Amino acid sequence: MTIMATEAAGITNDTRNDTRNDTVHLLPQTRQLRALHTIIRDRNCDLERFVTTSGRIIRQLVETALDLLPFEPSGVQTPVGQTYHGLRPAKPICGVPVVRAGESMEHELRAMSPGVRIGKILIQRDKVTKLPRLYYSALPADIDRHSVLLLDPMLATGGTALAAIEVLLAHGVAEDDIVFVTLLSAPEGIDAVHARHPNLRIVTSAIEERLNENAYMIPGIGDFGDRYFGTD
Ligand code: URA
Repeated sequence: MTIMATEAAGITNDTRNDTRNDTVHLLPQTRQLRALHTIIRDRNCDLERFVTTSGRIIRQLVETALDLLPFEPSGVQTPVGQTYHGLRPAKPICGVPVVRAGESMEHELRAMSPGVRIGKILIQRDKVTKLPRLYYSALPADIDRHSVLLLDPMLATGGTALAAIEVLLAHGVAEDDIVFVTLLSAPEGIDAVHARHPNLRIVTSAIEERLNENAYMIPGIGDFGDRYFGTD
């Protein structure tokens, strides 16, 4: 696992010219980020605080992921009659949350970028085989022309992530056009994704110690979906 050191400005190292080893983008571990994590990891954090605070972290993750996508030059006229030589995304962007927990990230992405296209993937572990099973997907027909943010706040064993990546690849999305965005990740999950897709980029706000025997992350956050949607 190669983890990119991140810069104080809050933007990961530039990978636009060299994506070979720049695969894990860990948000800068600022005191402020740790304070936000302290709120949501607290077992006594109430629903409202959990939603608003995790949303603040998710926005940082999305901004970092967007910075990894390709850009092209774009000039605009400023109100004082000058040209600002700026940038715009070179490809349309599609967010693909893994239902249900990934919809927490969809919510923030849509708030930041209301016109963004959204696909959906529902994968659940089969009760008998214990393997991840695809139950449903709805993706734009031309998703292969998009940069895709694959959204799932928990990267634990990597089983769901791998199944979701396979769905995107089967729809013609290039591996280079996928950024997996996740709030917490386990080393086991990162390694599982990179064993099959060594160059796939992952943006995360924390890398945990390990998984426990029930595949929960340690020290972790518990069941993210239950805590975010208030179903525990
Ligand atoms: N899913 C969760 O919600 N939490 C974990 O710790 C692992 C998977």
